[in-house]
Amino acid sequence: MNPTTLQTFTWDDSLSTGVPMIDAHHKELIAAVNDLGQAIAHHKGATAIKKLFVFLKFYAEWHFEHEEACAAKHKCPIAEVNQQAHATFISTFGHLNDQYKASDASEVVALEIYEKLVDWLTSHILKIDTHIGRCIRSAT
Ligand SMILES: [Fe+2]
Repeated sequence: MNPTTLQTFTWDDSLSTGVPMIDAHHKELIAAVNDLGQAIAHHKGATAIKKLFVFLKFYAEWHFEHEEACAAKHKCPIAEVNQQAHATFISTFGHLNDQYKASDASEVVALEIYEKLVDWLTSHILKIDTHIGRCIRSAT
């Protein structure tokens, strides 16, 4: 794959929740997803990709915990939906990780995972986290 053909995941204002802590976490998550994309595009190999998967899982779980605690504290109506979406993501990401290992570290599979991560994060932030942000802002 040519590195220039891989689309970079860019953060823009449409993804803003208006809550600085949550936005900062999301930007870090997006940066980690981009690191993965770059590792794939530059053929960095299985060890680098596996390390990035581990970091992404760790960071996503850490961020979800903070976001969920914030949503619960402010009694956001969408808190449970958000929590469920996070749990589904962690489980799906685990399956994708297994798929990658079973594929003998295929770059095609890694790229599919990268694309799924971009899609999931974009859609989750737009459809759920922006509501969480609105709820938190209205309560503070
Ligand atoms: Fe969320």
